[in-house]
Amino acid sequence: MRELYLKAPAKINLALHVKGLREDGFHELQMIMQSISLADRIKLKKKSGGIIVKNSHTELPTGRENLAYQAAEIFFKNNPEINQGVEIYIEKNIPIAAGLAGGSTDAAAVMKGLYLLFELEYDLKELRSFLENIGSDVPYCLEGGTVYASGRGEILEELPFIGEKYLVVVTPAFKISTPEVYKLYDQIKGYDKFDFDSVQNNLKNDQEIDWELDYKNDLKKAAEKICPEIKEIKDIFKNTKAEFTMLSGSGPTVFSIYSSRELAEKAAARWPRKNDFVTVAKTVPSY
Ligand code: C5P
Repeated sequence: MRELYLKAPAKINLALHVKGLREDGFHELQMIMQSISLADRIKLKKKSGGIIVKNSHTELPTGRENLAYQAAEIFFKNNPEINQGVEIYIEKNIPIAAGLAGGSTDAAAVMKGLYLLFELEYDLKELRSFLENIGSDVPYCLEGGTVYASGRGEILEELPFIGEKYLVVVTPAFKISTPEVYKLYDQIKGYDKFDFDSVQNNLKNDQEIDWELDYKNDLKKAAEKICPEIKEIKDIFKNTKAEFTMLSGSGPTVFSIYSSRELAEKAAARWPRKNDFVTVAKTVPSY
């Protein structure tokens, strides 16, 4: 195989609970992750040597700071018998630094893609442990789906797929620094009570999601303080007949889930804030 095309889906969080600050500086988390159809497209092409990253977005770095580059570097280090290189082209559709795991999903796709391109077998567990070094969300992005993630975000338990649901994803033109949100979270904290067990039970045992349970995001207060536009976006969503609205990850992306595709499309078509990234997507199962 000389080249390969891959899809790298974005994720949203349906719940995000911060349990506390760990000694290593990361936070102990409980999260429900969900993949969505909004995706980057990646092309991998064999080269005589080296790693080259190209992309459709001028703001994205193409060197070592790019997580996809780091994934390729780890791949070649762990497979020294390969004496070729790769050119990676990323068609960037997922907003950057938006709480949608855009960089993480590219890295996971490149890692999996390189094993396919060079026709090597891989062990999923091993791949996840390689990817943990790139970022907390990257192991999840290898297969996606509806997942309970704990630890830093790298301990994964697959849940039943929540089914195909339509949503509108809105990202203001404001890049949020995740460490900054966590830093502010440490000062102001999140919700006083968070019944994560009930959320997990609901997803494991019931046919329908009970949005009245603690489907919420502990990073909300901190993210809204840093980016007040989040609140404005939520206020607009309130008048769109959404079933559920929440901040994804550390933001600033806000999404709303609708009972039908038509309602989602109507909300997106009538979106009044012209500088926001707005798209209709649907939830997707593990890939
Ligand atoms: O793991 P990742 O590189 O994506 O994390 C980015 C930043 O988010 C970390 O440097 C840290 O500030 C914060 N973070 C955290 N606890 C986690 C995950 C991320 O504090 N579990």
